[in-house]
Order: sequence, then C-alpha cells, then structure tokens
Amino acid sequence: MKKHILIVPGDGIGQEVTAVGKKVVEKIAAKFGHEFTYDEALIGHAAIEATGDPLPEETLVKMKASDAILFGAVGHPKYDNDPSAKVRPEQGLLKMRKELGLYANLRPIKLFDELLEASSIKPELLKGADILFFRELTGDVYFGKRERIDEGNTAYDTMIYSKYEVERIARKAFDAAMTRGKRLMSVDKANVLESSRLWREVVLEVAKDYPEVQLEHQFVDAAAMLLIKDPRKFDVVVTGNLFGDILTDEASQIAGSMGMLASASVGDSTGVYEPIHGSAHDITGKGVANPLASVLSAALMLDISFGLKAESEAIITAVDATLKAGFRTRDIADANTPADMILGTEAMGEQILSKL
Ligand code: NAD
Ligand code: IPM
Ligand code: MN
Repeated sequence: MKKHILIVPGDGIGQEVTAVGKKVVEKIAAKFGHEFTYDEALIGHAAIEATGDPLPEETLVKMKASDAILFGAVGHPKYDNDPSAKVRPEQGLLKMRKELGLYANLRPIKLFDELLEASSIKPELLKGADILFFRELTGDVYFGKRERIDEGNTAYDTMIYSKYEVERIARKAFDAAMTRGKRLMSVDKANVLESSRLWREVVLEVAKDYPEVQLEHQFVDAAAMLLIKDPRKFDVVVTGNLFGDILTDEASQIAGSMGMLASASVGDSTGVYEPIHGSAHDITGKGVANPLASVLSAALMLDISFGLKAESEAIITAVDATLKAGFRTRDIADANTPADMILGTEAMGEQILSKL
C-alpha cells in the first residue's frame, strides 16, 4: 500500500516520542511491504519561533495533502507562565482540529495486564478495564465566543453546542458501542447547563436508531467519581470537548500513565493520531518520556486511516511483549521493577522495534 504520512512532532517531549512512533511505522512498512513516504511540518512553539504563527499555512497545506498525520504535542512554559501572551502554541492545535474538521477524538483506555501494579487504583478493581471515549473535539467552550470586558476585569467563554455537532459524535459513539459491549454512557451536566440539556436531548433522539445499545446518562461530576470507583463499569463514553479532556486525563491512571494513552482525531479530512499527553516541560530533554502513547497512536493510524488491521495488531503485540519482558519507562515502573529494566525513550523504542 502507498501512503503519505505527515510527521508533526511539535514541542517538548512531542519531538522525543514522535521520533519513536515514526521508527515503528517505518519498521512495519518494511516488514509488510508498504510504500510509505514521509514529510515533516512545524506547529506550536516551534512554528511560532520559525514563522510567528503556531499553525503556518505551509503546515496546513501539507496536512490536507497527506493521508494521515502522526502528531506529538504542543506547549512551552514561556506561554503557560504568561497569561497575557496573545500568540500561543495551543492555538495551532485547536486551529488544526477545526480546519481539518476533526470532530471526533477517540481515546481508548486499555489496560495492559502487565501494568496492573503501575496504577494507583487497586488491581482487583482494574483487571479487564477497557473503555473507549468519544470526545467531541471541534465545539464547546473551546470554540465559543470569548471576551475580556469591564476594562479587563471580567472574562467569559461560551459553552456552545449545535444539534448537528452532538448528533454526529453521538452516532460515531453508538456505532462503536454496537461493535463492542453495546453499552454507552453519555456524560453531561444537564442538571445545570442548557448546552448539556440540548446534548442529552439529541443523544436520546439518536438512541432510537440503536435499540440494542444500553444507554446511560451521567453527570460529569458523578462520572469522574465512577471512573475511579469502578472502571470496569464503562464500555463506550461520549462527551463534550471540555469534559472529555478532563475525564481522559483522569482515565489515564486506569492505564497506568499519561504516557500510555493514544488517540485518533477524525472527521471530515486527514486523520490526526496523537498521544493525549502534552509537551511535559518537567521531563523535556531528559530522554525519559514514555514513547508508547505515540507508538499506540501509530497503531491507531494504521488501523483507522489505512485499514491495516494486521499491521496495527503487530504493533500492539510488540508493545505487549515488551511489557511482558519486564521493560518499563520510569512513569510505568513500580516498586518491584529492577533498576536495569527502567529504560529511556529511545531504548524503549528499540525494544519495541526488536519485537516487530
Ligand atoms: P502534560 O500531559 O504535558 O504532563 C502532565 C504530567 O504527565 C507531567 O508530569 C508529565 O511529565 C507526565 N507525562 C506526560 N506525558 C508523559 C510521557 N509520555 N511519559 C512520561 N510522563 C508523561 O500536561 P501539562 O504538564 O499540564 O502541560 C504541559 C504543556 O503541554 C502545556 O503547555 C499544555 O498546554 C500542553 N499540552 C498539550 C497537549 C497536546 O498537544 N495535545 C496536551 C496536553 C497539554
Ligand atoms: C489535549 C490538550 C489540548 C486540549 C490543549 C493543549 C489545547 O489538553 O489535546 O488533550 O485541551 O484539547
Ligand atoms: Mn488534554
């Protein structure tokens, strides 16, 4: 198969982990006889430094022209510590999602059995946890009207959803539920927010087309609690942009670490495959970042954008074998991990490659 892949590492550990993700894709191409071509483009702080723009036109043109995008992360402490900065790395990420129409962000929370002890949740509550989040990605408070008023002393952001936006993400989540355990939890705050009442109304309407799916509604505060109390209660979850952002960082602790969670952002145009984590300033440049979220994002890319199921499975099997062999990065090591089994980013990548 011939495909053109755009590599967009971004900032911080995005650079470090995406390098590993790319090597894994190259190895798969060689092993299975595919002709993948690659290009690279700037986004975030790296793009601001080079061009003044967090999503340069050149990057966007390359994105639209490629078959899939392997993305790292954006962010830099400079902006995090300067709330007044008008141009920010995160604007590049949000504009990319909007411009490419990536309204559905799939975030699988899959616990590898070997990491049962790495989580802060009791193993007996965790074993077998397997959740698929559908986070709406191009609406909500992220894209609503925002303003500073009252001579700068008051600010607001608008949480806004239209019916069509809820309907299309709900359909994707119901479709996925039909291929899994046929259970769907819709998460909102309909006891308070009008946009959530619209959300619930639309989800109930879409549910009529999926009589086999057992639909449950939870308020976001209760859902946050239930995730930790009983992670196995969950199958597919559908929720808005902000609630989904927060709940999936929480859910990363079910899988053991932020460094384990991959995601697929799909919709109207080229799919973007990205770890859920950020640029992680605290560990940038230390060579200790867990590359598995990027590697597993590459697996999602092969499966979802290219339909290459065996290739995608081969990556997951290699990750599993690496964990079974006892290799860990620092974030997923536990008290029993021998020091010589704790690897850096590149060495962990080499282990995965050796098992492919
Ligand atoms: P973060 O996800 O970067 O880091 C949170 C914590 O998880 C840190 O302690 C970090 O060391 C750890 N962590 C994250 N990924 C890891 C990995 N692969 N291996 C080991 N440990 C890992 O979130 P943050 O610290 O809140 O944000 C840092 C910057 O990243 C900010 O500028 C933020 O805006 C940006 N950000 C970007 C994205 C994205 O590009 N998709 C996502 C989240 C945050
Ligand atoms: C994510 C990040 C982004 C988000 C930020 C950096 C804009 O946290 O991809 O989860 O909130 O969507
Ligand atoms: Mn996030």
